[in-house]
Amino acid sequence: MKVFKTKTELKTYFKEIRSENDKIGFVPTMGALHQGHLSLIKQSKENNHFTIASIFVNPTQFDKKEDLDNYPKTLESDLDLLEKAACDIVFAPSIEEIYHDNIVSIHFDFDGLENEMEGKYRAGHFNGVGTIVKTLFEIIAPTNAYFGEKDFQQLQIVRKMVKKSKLNVSVIGCPIYREESGLAMSSRNKRLSEKEKKAASIIYKVLKKVVEKSSSETISDIEQWVSVEFKNHPLFDLEYFTIADIETLKTVSKLSPNSQYRAFIAVYANTVRLIDNISINT
Ligand code: PAF
Repeated sequence: MKVFKTKTELKTYFKEIRSENDKIGFVPTMGALHQGHLSLIKQSKENNHFTIASIFVNPTQFDKKEDLDNYPKTLESDLDLLEKAACDIVFAPSIEEIYHDNIVSIHFDFDGLENEMEGKYRAGHFNGVGTIVKTLFEIIAPTNAYFGEKDFQQLQIVRKMVKKSKLNVSVIGCPIYREESGLAMSSRNKRLSEKEKKAASIIYKVLKKVVEKSSSETISDIEQWVSVEFKNHPLFDLEYFTIADIETLKTVSKLSPNSQYRAFIAVYANTVRLIDNISINT
């Protein structure tokens, strides 16, 4: 496995090894890797000649400095995991290599997708994501790029950015990878106490129950039920729960048989923010 820290080194290596028809699979990450990331690497390896992962904790997508400071940074063990997963190339640039001395986001218009859910609670987050993903796509020029459906809004926003910027990359969404308890795998889970981690199985349990309820109950009754489930919980605070159309990401108050929906949730365990979602059309 080759590890590069600069664009020049990476591009020079690509020139040596890349033939015109080679498919390049790309898995962008912020490190603190878990099985969910490795499942993306596996999928990329099955469909491409080369797989490249990036490890870069992108400062412009954090709305709170404290969250950026606390984000787990585990480069050595990440490289170890990627090596074992037979990843071909890792791009792990410094902040200066990506942003020079101007750590700011591009302002994107994602046709309103950026104003829903996460966008309401994390100011500027999606401009930061768009900026780094576009930059990495331009450096790497992948054929296929792999994103987990846990960050479903991010996935739809990256698809929108690719379409609007006319980039020649296929964006592939991959199923959420879960712990045995049902907790969606996330780098942030590393910051949960054992007690919180165990109790966090409630999030997926609630989402599964929501799917069950969606065939017989109104959305407003379901929303009410979810809020009661978390109201007096000793460990978790519900930030939002919503059922939204998967294309517009707008909250709906009624399901129509012609559209597809997902239920989305964000909860806090102390200062750790956890998100999850589930398809309603199963
Ligand atoms: O999902 C993530 O880990 C990040 O948002 C991404 C896509 C690597 C961009 O920094």
